[in-house]
Amino acid sequence: MYAKAARFVCICLVLMWASICVAGETPRTVSDFNFSWRFTLGDEQAWAQPEFDDRGWRTLHLPHDWSIEGEFSPEHPAGVWGGALPGGIGWYRKHFATPAGKCTLLEFDGVYMNSTVYVNGHEVGNRPNGYSSFCYDVTQWLRRDGGDNVVAVRVDNSQQPNSRWYSGSGIYRNVRLVTTGEVHVAYNGVCITTPTVQANEATLAVKTEVTSPKGDKYGVRHRVMDADGAEVASAYKDGTIILHHPHRWDIEAPYLYTLVTEVVVKGQVTDRVATRFGIRTAAWDADRGFLLNGRQVKLLGVCLHHDMGCLGTAVHRRALERQLTIMRNMGVNAIRTSHNPPAPELLDLCDEMGLLVMDEALDTWRHHKAKHDYATYFDEWHERDLTDFVKRDRNHPSVILWSIGNEIYEQSGKTDEEQEANRRLSRHLSELVKRMDDTRAVTSGNHSLSRTNNIMTSGGLDVLGLNYRDFGYDSLRVWFPGMPIVASETVSAQNSRGVYFQPSTKMRVMPHGGEVLDEEKTFQCTAYDMCHAMWETTCTHQDGWIAVRDHPFVAGTFVWTGFDYLGEPTAYGWPARSSYFGIVDLAGFPKDVYYIYQSEWTDKTVLHLLPHWNWNASDSIDVWAYYNHADEVELLLNGRSLGRSSKTRDRLHAFWEKVPFEPGELTAISYQDGQEVARTSRTTTGAPAALRLTADRTIIAADGYDLSFVTVEALDAQGCPVPTADQMITFKVKGAGELLGVDNGNAAETLCLRGDMMPLFNGKVLAVVRSLCDQPGTITLIADSPVGKASCTIISTR
Ligand code: GAL
Repeated sequence: MYAKAARFVCICLVLMWASICVAGETPRTVSDFNFSWRFTLGDEQAWAQPEFDDRGWRTLHLPHDWSIEGEFSPEHPAGVWGGALPGGIGWYRKHFATPAGKCTLLEFDGVYMNSTVYVNGHEVGNRPNGYSSFCYDVTQWLRRDGGDNVVAVRVDNSQQPNSRWYSGSGIYRNVRLVTTGEVHVAYNGVCITTPTVQANEATLAVKTEVTSPKGDKYGVRHRVMDADGAEVASAYKDGTIILHHPHRWDIEAPYLYTLVTEVVVKGQVTDRVATRFGIRTAAWDADRGFLLNGRQVKLLGVCLHHDMGCLGTAVHRRALERQLTIMRNMGVNAIRTSHNPPAPELLDLCDEMGLLVMDEALDTWRHHKAKHDYATYFDEWHERDLTDFVKRDRNHPSVILWSIGNEIYEQSGKTDEEQEANRRLSRHLSELVKRMDDTRAVTSGNHSLSRTNNIMTSGGLDVLGLNYRDFGYDSLRVWFPGMPIVASETVSAQNSRGVYFQPSTKMRVMPHGGEVLDEEKTFQCTAYDMCHAMWETTCTHQDGWIAVRDHPFVAGTFVWTGFDYLGEPTAYGWPARSSYFGIVDLAGFPKDVYYIYQSEWTDKTVLHLLPHWNWNASDSIDVWAYYNHADEVELLLNGRSLGRSSKTRDRLHAFWEKVPFEPGELTAISYQDGQEVARTSRTTTGAPAALRLTADRTIIAADGYDLSFVTVEALDAQGCPVPTADQMITFKVKGAGELLGVDNGNAAETLCLRGDMMPLFNGKVLAVVRSLCDQPGTITLIADSPVGKASCTIISTR
């Protein structure tokens, strides 16, 4: 992964060097603009002015989410649905010298929300949508007298609730300062498509949007570089470029090219831009679903919200990479960016890792779902937001599907006129997308299963997306013959990692209403796959997958959700403040249901046994095993066989009911044709006696961005992890790093995720450590608890 990103950086460096040689100056510089910002909560218009003395403000580096730094409370106006964290208004300021170069641009990947940017006191722009990326040309406002410039950003997330999930607040994505020539490639102005792709030849169609403020005449030229940086084709204008023997981008081998575009005015190169792209075909078929490079690929997908647990919504490339790696190891080949444009880094990673993306724009159109949500801005802003979204993301080979909305209320209307207006609006949004990219299919996630669904009948969709309602795939096929269908959102099961309510055979539908059951007083949901949300269309993980598996014409599934996310704790109210829907918990620890998918979606040999084996003498415990590559599994308790069990077409686990607990070792052995394939055990442990810290990476880059995710477990005297441990852990970091967040995956934990203490939850807690910029050295993370102290060492290196 890093090798690929490094190769792209190398190509960029070679280009910069080439530009120095050719034109005598670097026509475009792109600088990290994240460091040395000052920040405060509050609101004063005077803070926009350059002379304001901001030295008393806090200094920080972006990306930054101020909400995650707050205390959880049901009193915050976002409510538990918004993550029970504060919103409000915040200001950021940064001082900078006037850069060389004719044109200076500020690029913001996303500010939540309603941002207003001022340069030296001049308002340069406002953007309500917190997920849109935008760019301002600030050249005319910069000082030419050698003095400092000040950029001030007002961020207004005070109108609450404005989201159905946790949004975060602040400049939570990256900011870059770009200098270039006066005549330059417009923001996201390069468009590369591949009209024909064959084994021996691909044609690229390249279009460049150029900004030439004074109307200077210009030319553009392009060079295509392969993944090693070698030039493989070129052209002296926009149009068609032929590439011989192209490497395809595929999920198995995600090969990436780079297009280098130069703008030339009177023989001088005034701008040079590198754009990564891939060569692949993506097609949809009513019978065969999705075809990548002509091959049928079932979309094994998950929906992901944009927060990163204890890091809030602040974008960290490494956190995204970890999240996607955990998903890919489960067998995931597709991601749905529910329900908003993602950070650009997510798409970069999907390009590099070979993951397919359903890129989603909106959760609402004109009708509100939350009082102050995007519907307020829709009429004024949707054309701009949708256009910018497609322009930004259209060169990513990973993106295979545009979604113009999730569960949009305009699916139905009260009168004929209203329904017709909804259809027109659907077509209009689809046309906006197609104006910027007519090579990909357009869909939307629909939850109204009706042959008169206004969006489905609008003619604006190329692929019908159906959320839940897995009983409706056949009806859709009858009502809309010839239309490809994708299960755009499925399941909505609820589980807590390491929690096992007995008996496992009882289906729990949450919230179930009426009297609160004893086990529910813990604000947890069982980890057996026997719990789902109360909407009548939701189901267990097993049943959601079986429905898609058994409908070959359904292109694939996007399970709600891959990871838990802050907000929407559906099963409960406060103190619950994050979801139970994740296959993986908020800290990134897989729940047991992870292994259903791994056993069904991958070729890895899987044998996963649940639950743990720390119970009381009188308990009877249901035992499950997820497995593959075998026809049966034998269960042994302290060496005694408890019999063999197999999964069936409709039950995706082996099962032993009411096993009387006795301390010792519970072992599962899987067999294929009588031959042992795999074995695994759960052992009764003693009380916690020590801590163990395990870092996912012990060498990280000293760049102020790189992260190490450290798992803390409690061990018994024999050194076995105790699955029920719940001791409080206090963290300290010494040396060349800082503690960035702590989390245990408990959806009802109310301690601050940016604090320095967090209890183990069912045996685990996570600490995230970040390197310091340009300060290589040793980082020591120390964890202290009533059962002992332990530490781990991470090297931060240049
Ligand atoms: C869906 C919705 C998701 C989430 C989910 C919870 O209807 O699209 O955003 O709210 O329900 O079950």
